Amino acid sequence: MQQDLLTFKDTTPAQMQELLALALHVKRAPSDFRNTLQGKSLVALFEKPSLRTRVSFDIGIQKLGGHLVYLDAQANNLAGREDTKDMALNLSCWADGIIARVYSHSTLEELQAHASVPVINALCDLYHPCQALADYLAMAEVFHDVKGKTMAYIGDGNNVTHSLLIVGALLGVHQVVVTPKGHEANPEIVSLARNLAQTTGADIRETHDISSLENVDVLYTDTWLSMGDDTPLADIKEKFMPYQINHDLLQQSGAQYVMHCQPAHRDLEITGALIDSEASLLMLQAENRMHAQNAIMIQLLGERI
Ligand code: CP
Ligand code: NVA
Repeated sequence: MQQDLLTFKDTTPAQMQELLALALHVKRAPSDFRNTLQGKSLVALFEKPSLRTRVSFDIGIQKLGGHLVYLDAQANNLAGREDTKDMALNLSCWADGIIARVYSHSTLEELQAHASVPVINALCDLYHPCQALADYLAMAEVFHDVKGKTMAYIGDGNNVTHSLLIVGALLGVHQVVVTPKGHEANPEIVSLARNLAQTTGADIRETHDISSLENVDVLYTDTWLSMGDDTPLADIKEKFMPYQINHDLLQQSGAQYVMHCQPAHRDLEITGALIDSEASLLMLQAENRMHAQNAIMIQLLGERI
């Protein structure tokens, strides 16, 4: 059984399907799980700001009967006041799980190495696994089956792209990653996703040519500048504007839906009109963060009652 959730890269397609089905069950029949985390406490260590992740974990844990202690200022410099190793050892004395949003994936690996309780990645520089599960849950709801559907991720190749690639590969979702030159996804993670995709038949394609995009089911984008990237918007805006998700791109690509993990920047990576349109899955994605994360916590540390 899986002990932590850092990346999903060691998950099998069957396990991923099972987790997606559990997330759907949690969403449809929450009362089946209301005591699953009874008497359990988790700690959230957040080095970066959050709206969706923080609130959905906190409220989600309450709905499962558990309790969350949130640390922000203390966590801003995880290894500053004491070693990450010592934080992991101390937190394991009281907490049943650690949820961490960190700058560097290596911080999560260090927490994992020394904590005796499950560690859950709430976003790092390389991955955002909870987001990806919530996103494919949204797709599963609108399409009934995600296998064989095509997602086009457009914009900056980043943590969200990487987790969408990994989870999508495990679920058999075809993916086209469209980025400006110099902003490609991490090649090692793309290659890892391609390996995972061999068992499901998912096709993964990368391109810089936005005009070639056609026959896709959903368009997905994220901020052009991730948290911690201090590049001025003015330096990259011209390069990224052709990659904006807008009405014309929706028509050209044939996509039925648009997706964004949020926070969104209206009329930059996606038009405000599309966010507010019937094609938008943004609020479904946000809503599903809680159900997806609750499914993850039920698998990692839950006791069904
Ligand atoms: N999508 C997401 O993780 O949002 P927050 O940064 O607000 O948590
Ligand atoms: N790529 C974005 C995702 C925010 C949820 C970031 O890391 O800031």
